Amino acid sequence: MRVEQRGEWPLLHVRSASRATELIAIDPDPDDLPAIAAHVADDPRAMATLVTPDLAPFLAAPFPGGVRVDRADETFMSTRLSPQGLPLLPGYRTRWSPDGHRMRYSVEDGRSVAAEGVVGVWGDVAVLDGIETSSRHRRRGLAAHVTDTLTAWAVSEGAATGVLAASPQGRDLYVSLGWQPRLAMWSWMGIARKSHI
Ligand SMILES: CC(C)(COP(=O)(O)OP(=O)(O)OC[C@H]1O[C@@H](n2cnc3c(N)ncnc32)[C@H](O)[C@@H]1OP(=O)(O)O)[C@@H](O)C(=O)NCCC(=O)NCCS
Repeated sequence: MRVEQRGEWPLLHVRSASRATELIAIDPDPDDLPAIAAHVADDPRAMATLVTPDLAPFLAAPFPGGVRVDRADETFMSTRLSPQGLPLLPGYRTRWSPDGHRMRYSVEDGRSVAAEGVVGVWGDVAVLDGIETSSRHRRRGLAAHVTDTLTAWAVSEGAATGVLAASPQGRDLYVSLGWQPRLAMWSWMGIARKSHI
């Protein structure tokens, strides 16, 4: 993925199905909101994510035009990686598959994927992503096993610290595994400019 610097912040050329770019505004000031919005305004494939210890002053500030809130429920979390060897219930099969520069670990029930997740390692930092359990397999420890197994792989690749963006459900999972909530996240997307034909 290409990363360029836009002022103080990195702009990621994500090129995913839902977005082309994502600006990561790390610890911005509420006065920066118009400048952050200017990066994405009127472009429905541009995302900006604010990462901050406290969202309250941002939520109280005037909301800029040309953007919409995409997500306001994610938490940036981190941990010192320490795999616990969490076992898998009998009856499931597991699979590793490369996913670009990352590794995907899947748990399958014979017919379909029951749970999976992805990890990438950059230096001594591991980024976990896409951890999900299909609804009929939940609360059986599958996501905990997937997270722990990805952790073990990342440690074997030299990682010492783990980071991720957690959904509200994921936050409970990761807290149960010893991860710490660190920062709030607020993601915006641009809104397509109305045509006046
Ligand atoms: C979050 C998610 C991955 C959890 O999957 P799971 O396989 O059910 O999780 P586990 O069974 O391994 O849960 C392990 C522990 O995490 C915590 N936990 C998991 N899901 C929880 C929930 N919905 N509410 C509260 N605690 C939860 C509990 O402490 C649980 O232990 P317990 O069942 O003994 O109480 C699953 O609900 C999911 O796919 N959600 C939608 C996608 C998503 O939000 N993914 C996370 C992206 S960051």
